[in-house]
Amino acid sequence: QADVFTFDPGFTSTASCASAITYIDGDKGELWYRGYPIEQLALHGHHLETAYLLLYGDLPTPKQMEDFENRVTRHTMVHEQMHYFFRGFRRDSHPMATMVGVVGALSAFYHDSLDINDPWHREVASIRLIAKLPTIAAMAYKYSIGQPFVYPRNELDYASNFLHMCFSVPAEEYKVDPALARAMDRIMMLHADHEQNASTSTVRLAGSSGANPFACIAAGIACLWGPAHGGANQACLEMLQEIGTVDRIPEYIKRAKDKDDPFRLMGFGHRVYKNFDPRAKIMKESADEVLGILGIEDNPTLQVAKELERIALEDEYFVQKKLYPNVDFYSGIILSAMGFPTAMFTPIFALSRTVGWISQWTEMLGDPDSKIGRPRQLYVGQDRRDYVPVADR
Ligand code: SDX
Repeated sequence: QADVFTFDPGFTSTASCASAITYIDGDKGELWYRGYPIEQLALHGHHLETAYLLLYGDLPTPKQMEDFENRVTRHTMVHEQMHYFFRGFRRDSHPMATMVGVVGALSAFYHDSLDINDPWHREVASIRLIAKLPTIAAMAYKYSIGQPFVYPRNELDYASNFLHMCFSVPAEEYKVDPALARAMDRIMMLHADHEQNASTSTVRLAGSSGANPFACIAAGIACLWGPAHGGANQACLEMLQEIGTVDRIPEYIKRAKDKDDPFRLMGFGHRVYKNFDPRAKIMKESADEVLGILGIEDNPTLQVAKELERIALEDEYFVQKKLYPNVDFYSGIILSAMGFPTAMFTPIFALSRTVGWISQWTEMLGDPDSKIGRPRQLYVGQDRRDYVPVADR
């Protein structure tokens, strides 16, 4: 293992933590969850199995999987009082705004009974968050479109339950297409964890002070919302729709290369990947599959995305700067085809990433040597100077 895990001194000196959960090789475009390549997990596994793997470190036995799934299922409802919490928001609030507020408010319902120094309490909180985030995301969506909240159904699997809570109405049950549920589940799994990205580092930093896990996850949601991070999936689809047709792609490629133009190709580039994001490859295959199922494989936005990717990957600027499509490039096309508005893309990223966030939080809290985070700075301000009374300025 040494040759794979030997860090260069420079890296270890800047690393924010040691973690055994996710490994990324940015140059090779590799992503492993607890040592398992994402490609194999996406092909053979499912999101809740991945959640178990990330949280406990190994793939579950059938009995372990059954117990875990039952525990998650039994916590998918939220306290009835939380329904009133939504009413304080304007109907047109972005679902990420309501999610930040409502998830943080879970602290008011479950935190008092929690001792985060107790591993069992940490596990209960983790299960509650994994279980409740899809329900809260679906409630945020329903609230934004003026429809009544839909309760979870215990007989449905995790992804099907989310689709049901988003698209069923009291007058008509949404018929979950198993192929679409599988695609939704794959999107959740591909977003489950990603090493020390900005939002995960936010959760770890908040958790290092001893803040309760509900407040820490709310902090992670707030950070994920940014368009440079989890908000990129919404920004990417809006960009593809703005481009509209393949003949307009060169204009946007030109803008992306113009240093004086703040425009960036959304869904392209990555702080770590200097090769294809392995998740983007799987997502691209999933986009073809989903749009084929829905009979809209000639969807103009997908055609623009594919042509934009082809042109960019042959363009010297993108090749030289090692810019490739990332996880956000195709996800929006799939979610839009399923019927989600762009405002729901990042909430879906957030509910999926909750698994990684809470696994990283659990790993950190379980380390007896863990201390409060305290990033340092390079001071570039004024040298020491004396106060000048206002009359003398
Ligand atoms: C996610 O960290 C994670 O793991 C995040 C994530 C996760 O799972 O948690 O993977 C999820 O956030 C994916 C990234 C989603 N964001 C976007 O798609 C937004 C568009 N991409 C970027 O804004 C950008 O690529 C970043 C923010 C992702 C990375 O920005 P950096 O750190 O500046 O990228 P870089 O250092 O690799 O850039 C190298 C050069 C720079 O130019 P120079 O300063 O060298 O002249 O490439 C340029 C950048 O300006 N560049 C782009 C570009 N991305 C980088 N130019 C045009 N279009 C782009 N998309």
